Amino acid sequence: MTQRRKTKRRAVGEDAADYSTNRKLQFIDLFCGIGGFRIAFERAGCECAWSSDWDKHSQVTYEANHGEKPHGDIHSVAVADIPKHDILCAGFPCQPFSLAGVSKKLSLGRKHGFQDEKQGNLFFNIAEILDYHQPSAFVLENVKNLKNHDNGHTFDVIYRTLTEALGYTVYHKVIDARSVVPQHRERVFIVGFKPWRDFEFPSFPSEGPKLSSILDDKVDPKYTLSDHLWEYLQGYAAKHRAAGNGFGFGLFTGDGVARTLSARYHKDGAEILISQGKNKTPRRLTPRECARLMGFPSDFKIPVSDTQAYRQFGNSVVVPVIERIAKSTVQALSHPVNIRPVLVLKMNEKARARIPNRTLSLMNYRATGKKQKSNP
Ligand SMILES: C[S@@+](CC[C@H](N)C(=O)[O-])C[C@H]1O[C@@H](n2cnc3c(N)ncnc32)[C@H](O)[C@@H]1O
Repeated sequence: MTQRRKTKRRAVGEDAADYSTNRKLQFIDLFCGIGGFRIAFERAGCECAWSSDWDKHSQVTYEANHGEKPHGDIHSVAVADIPKHDILCAGFPCQPFSLAGVSKKLSLGRKHGFQDEKQGNLFFNIAEILDYHQPSAFVLENVKNLKNHDNGHTFDVIYRTLTEALGYTVYHKVIDARSVVPQHRERVFIVGFKPWRDFEFPSFPSEGPKLSSILDDKVDPKYTLSDHLWEYLQGYAAKHRAAGNGFGFGLFTGDGVARTLSARYHKDGAEILISQGKNKTPRRLTPRECARLMGFPSDFKIPVSDTQAYRQFGNSVVVPVIERIAKSTVQALSHPVNIRPVLVLKMNEKARARIPNRTLSLMNYRATGKKQKSNP
């Protein structure tokens, strides 16, 4: 019998962990990068039990800031060696399972998905950990396009794996970080609970900050674009405008809100250039400004080269967005699992009368684990 089969599964509504005590909730930080999730969940009162990222430069930044070197390649870790945890966090890399990709793999004689250890989609590593450890909650983050990719097929596989195969109740929402940092950055957040919990995504302010709130007054001249690069970027943009495309640089003043910072920012900084007036070529953001643009605290250490720092912040999460989601997740876990019958009881009699008794007692059973005699 495999170890996985031996694991006792929690039935829905039965043996749910008690989160009403003051015990610190344990989370694991998968694909942790530089630890954006970690800062947010620690601020929500949780404790990190384990982390993993295979990028050696990200490991340097993570260790400098969190005092621990993340474990490497997720494929090299036995699921059973990952400690028990309450919440699984992952800003997982998006490697869509496009059908074209599948047929290419098949034509190369490779297996697909779960069976393909090297090429297998990293989402399935998350699914395997959820299946084995059965944490009470998870929070996943990805690019907004995950929802539309491959005509929705990619998201459908993810959603059905989490719900139908793994039994989690799943909530998802696209959130734009611009209400908390001066950056237009839309990401999809997928939050799941087992057993069911009453969860709502947090609300965000309607007006966000402007770029002036994160810009330094004095910046090293090395961040100013050379005349050559600035001419090239303008020529490139003009060519694409003529062809009817929107590609090109993004030029901002302190009154603006930046485009999405990407991992390729180190190449030319084209997506977010800061105007320095008419007589000077624009500059790119400094790594410290990028840290602020992603909502990292001012004492966050940047022990790597500029190139690596740009990559790391571009790949990361906006800390205050995750912090709000983390607090809502913790709050949802602190409610007793049997909150559901209250909702049933709150229904007016007319609505209640339309629900068959069998369904009512099943809802009760799901929430409390106790069987009830149904009314005649
Ligand atoms: C989108 S980034 C997540 C960044 C993170 N959320 C943060 O706040 O910095 C994805 C991360 O997954 C890591 N990664 C990709 N494949 C991996 C693997 N097989 N094992 C471990 N980490 C991996 C990358 O190095 C990268 O840092």
